[in-house]
Amino acid sequence: MSLNGWADRTYDSVFGPIRRNRLGVSRWRSIVPGTCVIGLQWGDEAKGKLVDLLTSRFEIVVRYQGGANAGHTVVVGDKTYKLHHIPSGILTPGVMNVVTPGVVINPPTLLKEIDSLAAQGIDVGSNLMLSDRAHVVFPWHIAEDKVMDQATGGESIGTTLRGIGPCYRDKVGRAHAIRLGDMFRPDFRTRVEHIARAKNRLLTGIGSQSEALDAAAIVAEYTAYGERLARYVTDTTHFLLDAVEAGKRLLFEGAQGSLLDIDHGTFPYVTSSNASGVGVSGGSGVPGRWINKVIGVAKAYSTRVGGGPFPTELDNDIGQKIRDLGREYGTTTGRPRRCGWFDAVAVRYTARLSGIDCISLMMMDVLSQLSEVRICVAYELDGRRTDRFPSHVDDLRRCQPVYETMPGWQADVTKVRRIEDLPVGARRYLDRVTQLVGKPVEIVSVGPDRAQTMFAGSMQQG
Ligand code: GDP
Ligand code: IMO
Ligand code: MG
Repeated sequence: MSLNGWADRTYDSVFGPIRRNRLGVSRWRSIVPGTCVIGLQWGDEAKGKLVDLLTSRFEIVVRYQGGANAGHTVVVGDKTYKLHHIPSGILTPGVMNVVTPGVVINPPTLLKEIDSLAAQGIDVGSNLMLSDRAHVVFPWHIAEDKVMDQATGGESIGTTLRGIGPCYRDKVGRAHAIRLGDMFRPDFRTRVEHIARAKNRLLTGIGSQSEALDAAAIVAEYTAYGERLARYVTDTTHFLLDAVEAGKRLLFEGAQGSLLDIDHGTFPYVTSSNASGVGVSGGSGVPGRWINKVIGVAKAYSTRVGGGPFPTELDNDIGQKIRDLGREYGTTTGRPRRCGWFDAVAVRYTARLSGIDCISLMMMDVLSQLSEVRICVAYELDGRRTDRFPSHVDDLRRCQPVYETMPGWQADVTKVRRIEDLPVGARRYLDRVTQLVGKPVEIVSVGPDRAQTMFAGSMQQG
């Protein structure tokens, strides 16, 4: 298969010649150019909306972990875009969007995403780069996901069934992994044949009901995908290192949320990548020295999709009301999201873990409809009060939330455009979140539209 000149997509070809000294080393600019947007809960905090809104301040937007399990809905005027792999920066013309080695790519889903953007008037064109190091999701991963999701014993993880866990497992295991760049190598066919043989045995062994894998058909199908994707494939690591050394401004778009982080989340009810701030450098290849701002995104309440403990869950009419008002149904799977009160114990933990500078608090319009609102300020675990988020899910399951109740403000805030114009009850709520989490709320969202967003402090637009 032809490489279609993928190696040409260097920094110089996009931004022009890089300034180098006599030793050929690029001359570093002193500004630190990286900002991250990280989910502080269990995903769906409206990271996509925020990234889209902030993109005009940056030259490059970067996805560094996760895959088609992510679903970011972005509303721009009368159009709604749904993104799974492609950074939300793609909606802003002239910005480069980079998918880096830490992401797992599902080629047919990605191609559908490119086509549906084109149908909505967004030409991905030369504004997308895919790392040749990113791992590829194959049909065997999806078949394994279907069987393995039931295998935790007890409650199932409730994965998105997008093959994410099995693909990351093969990446770490190495023997059965195929990276995007491998699809263009002469041994692609033999590798697929070898892996498909092993996977057919494995899938039968674990009780999969799916049809036997046909290696020849998979090679033909993926070769066709590769032909369409080749123009985007490149070494993104060098590109980003050149960019940060030249002082280009980068915005990192997190997928999932910090509580779904494989190492620091509510294991095993998590996703298979580092979804908290700790994953940015590992996934993108950009060292932490180039990152100087982290924005933590949280809803004014909590949601979770899939299994696992959720201390502030409202399995009642209030939970249903939040679900209806916030249209809390998954972007990727359409599943109803579990809803509950804001959990300050959990968010203080993830705010520290992700090293955030400020909070972007979303969905304040949804809470505005309730007659009273609650915040979980501590847990009671086996009769003792604690403000520490436990490391084991069995302990988290036994945590009883300790609530503070505040009167609701019951006013339509969707048209409010300055934080100081919010009802006094809403401002008190923001102050209490700031106090409990220990970081200032500097962005407030009161609806899906770009205009329904207010900035304060260091995030003030200008
Ligand atoms: P992400 O995965 O973190 O990008 O979040 P999702 O896109 O899955 O879910 C967030 C949903 O909330 C999207 O449908 C957004 O359009 C919508 N949204 C974003 N901000 C607000 C807000 O302030 N209020 C309301 N009502 N909806 C919002
Ligand atoms: P965004 O980027 C919410 C959840 C799944 C499941 C667990 C593991 O839109 O915030 P996986 O398929 O990753 O192995 O599933 O993680 N999950 C998400 N929940 N938002 C997401 O992404 C999610 N991605 C995965 O529901 O509980
Ligand atoms: Mg989502």
